[in-house]
Amino acid sequence: MIPQLQNLLQSHSADVDGIYGNLSGFSTEQSVEIKLRERVAAEHYDDYLDALSHSHSISVMDHEVDCFLAKMPQGALILDIGGCWGWHWRRLAETRPDVGVLIIDFVRSNLTHAQKVLGELVGHQVALMHADATALPFAADASFPGFDGIWTVQAFQHIPSFDKAVSEAYKALKRGGEFANYSLNVQPPIRWLCRLFGRNYIMEDWVEGVFWLARASKKQKVSIEAIFGSKVSERWSEILYTPELHFLAPGREGSLLGKLDALLSNNIGFLGWLARQHSFHCKKT
Ligand SMILES: C[S@@+](CC[C@H](N)C(=O)[O-])C[C@H]1O[C@@H](n2cnc3c(N)ncnc32)[C@H](O)[C@@H]1O
Repeated sequence: MIPQLQNLLQSHSADVDGIYGNLSGFSTEQSVEIKLRERVAAEHYDDYLDALSHSHSISVMDHEVDCFLAKMPQGALILDIGGCWGWHWRRLAETRPDVGVLIIDFVRSNLTHAQKVLGELVGHQVALMHADATALPFAADASFPGFDGIWTVQAFQHIPSFDKAVSEAYKALKRGGEFANYSLNVQPPIRWLCRLFGRNYIMEDWVEGVFWLARASKKQKVSIEAIFGSKVSERWSEILYTPELHFLAPGREGSLLGKLDALLSNNIGFLGWLARQHSFHCKKT
């Protein structure tokens, strides 16, 4: 295992399947979501990237990962919170063989899928841990310098205790480390269409029987700035990719529209009202 991951995990033990951590019997306000995600994880998937392209644009997120990795120092250690199937890191051996990633998720069966998606990267550049974002088993202190980067995609949007999750991330980050949190954006055109067809468009509420959903908001930006004590920058991504209107083509691996979409991601608000994703980026000073 890459040395920075080995050092991090020396006081943690893995189960026989190689997955670290243990959340059995823990109680959470997200118990309904866990049941839903366990049902989804119980399905069989022949083609993971095809399944993922129904809820994420592969090309856009590959581009966002590359932008994030470009900010990481040599030998960096990254924490992916709510990393699920771990697919963001599948190209890591080619793009950044010096970087180690710990993926955590509170649904253990998602990490079993991550083992299939990531193959030999697991146990070398990637480790998997069953853990909860609101009670991270790591904090930067005298014995651990902290993570160089914390990356989280469409996970904090489902955590009702958003501020708690951000505080935990702050504690686990190294000084100078980068935090990136991607959430669903508020898209006025989709909101109007929902209103026209009498459908509910949730900005911040429980989606009954499914999960909590809080789209990216000014309130979240203000919270992150207060917790980090530093300025948050914003990005808008997935501008062409619109699964809500069944326009999935730009999400598929290798799609030319997806590659164009990746080039449209921006930090100036350009086409922000069309973007499906809105992310907040911050440094621990
Ligand atoms: C919408 S999925 C996104 C998965 C992944 N980040 C991606 O981009 O494909 C949200 C993930 O966050 C995980 N999650 C939600 N709340 C969590 C929490 N409190 N602690 C750990 N994982 C959590 C879920 O189990 C799920 O795998």
